[in-house]
Amino acid sequence: MRLDKYLAHSTGLSRKEVKRALHSKSVTVNGAMVRDASFQLQEDAEVLFNKQLVSAPKHRYLMLNKPQGYVCSHEDPNHPTVAGLLEAEIRANELNIAGRLDVDTTGLLLVTTDGQWLHKITSPNHKQAKRYLVETADAIAVQTIDLFAKGVALKGEKNLTKPAVLEIIETHMAYLTITEGKYHQVKRMLAAVGNKVEGLHRSQIGGVVLGDDLALGEFKALSPEQVALLA
Ligand code: URA
Repeated sequence: MRLDKYLAHSTGLSRKEVKRALHSKSVTVNGAMVRDASFQLQEDAEVLFNKQLVSAPKHRYLMLNKPQGYVCSHEDPNHPTVAGLLEAEIRANELNIAGRLDVDTTGLLLVTTDGQWLHKITSPNHKQAKRYLVETADAIAVQTIDLFAKGVALKGEKNLTKPAVLEIIETHMAYLTITEGKYHQVKRMLAAVGNKVEGLHRSQIGGVVLGDDLALGEFKALSPEQVALLA
């Protein structure tokens, strides 16, 4: 890992502050002063800042506002990737994405370097509620509220979907909250009632809400409370 990233992730200093620290000759690696931000650290390097030991960076937990057209994978021959948006923050081989979104879906993605945390929050036992803003091709029938509350049959699935909450806000627009994460679930649920999804945006996972402060393509760290809340 680069020295500047190691320092920023371990100490909470901003990139600018890390640069300043390096220029002021207050960082040593294995006893030798280093000023080069791009210096590559070995796994067992001993890093001191102002003569204090800097321990290895902790896991990172981020929320990202996924833009349309991006895929939730590390590599793709045809589309830009979420890994590309995050590459300054998390290396592709360390990146775990919780609850992938389709290429045309926008909104809240949780990403982390912590595989155990990811496993916990995505396990079916956890039943994290996910809230989506759905735009449809046809008007949403009021009866859909009841149908989704009881569960609908998805093509190719044995069991009905788990109870879901539909809040119709306009003729062609609604919030849908589900606790499962089946492949293309929202699109298939709307298809099951003879409608079609034209636009899909995830606004919330569990207690974590995507606020207006995060523009498409931007990300920020989850607070320790949010990390604990989801696990
Ligand atoms: N359901 C879908 O159909 N697509 C998504 O991206 C997320 C949920």
